[in-house]
Amino acid sequence: MTTLRYFGHSCFLLKDGTNSVLIDPFLSGNPHAGGVPADLNPTTILVSHGHGDHIGDTLEIAKRSNATVLAVFEIGEWLGQQGVEKTIPAGLGGIIKFDWGTAKLVQAFHSSTIEFDGKFLPGGDPCGYLISIGGKNIYFAGDTCLFSDMRLIGEMAQPQLDLALLPIGGHFTMGIDDAVKAVSFCNPRTVIPMHYNTFDVVAADPNEFKRKVEASTKSRCVVVPPGSEYTLE
Ligand code: NI
Ligand code: MN
Repeated sequence: MTTLRYFGHSCFLLKDGTNSVLIDPFLSGNPHAGGVPADLNPTTILVSHGHGDHIGDTLEIAKRSNATVLAVFEIGEWLGQQGVEKTIPAGLGGIIKFDWGTAKLVQAFHSSTIEFDGKFLPGGDPCGYLISIGGKNIYFAGDTCLFSDMRLIGEMAQPQLDLALLPIGGHFTMGIDDAVKAVSFCNPRTVIPMHYNTFDVVAADPNEFKRKVEASTKSRCVVVPPGSEYTLE
């Protein structure tokens, strides 16, 4: 059984019963998470890009839990320099194998800088992830606008994507209407919206997204409240 815990924004914890995979651990500055849970000890951390609302508490959690961190080359190397012992710097198209499954770095259209010590360091390419865990295929889009090759990402998951995690908040990423189009492109059995209502600038109604998805695509939309868990079907 594969479960997903949502911490709000773009932070998720996937669990297969043995291992846990933490994605974009923005917790301490996240009003929906309100800090790093004391019992959070992931096996693996996936980072989509360097912005603070995604790289988040990666340093602290990786050092504490000895988790392996997968990220694009520049971010993986930087985390290593900061004292993270197990990093996997990789590039778009790479499929990385873990005890729990695989993670493939896929394209995202966005920017990526690491804000550190009052400076902005280059973070390389932003990415999304195509994740295989517990027999399920999951597309985590990261921060991105709509792009038509989301079709290709959907086709990479055979026979079909089980789940897509897509941003809907607008301003920094696609908003609701483009995200509905993204659902039609990547064709997941289920979609869960993310990256909304964390701050005023990314305000969006997830139920409007759900109505539009279910009116115009074959996918089902599940709105997962921050702090709650969802079992993948
Ligand atoms: Ni960003
Ligand atoms: Mn963001």
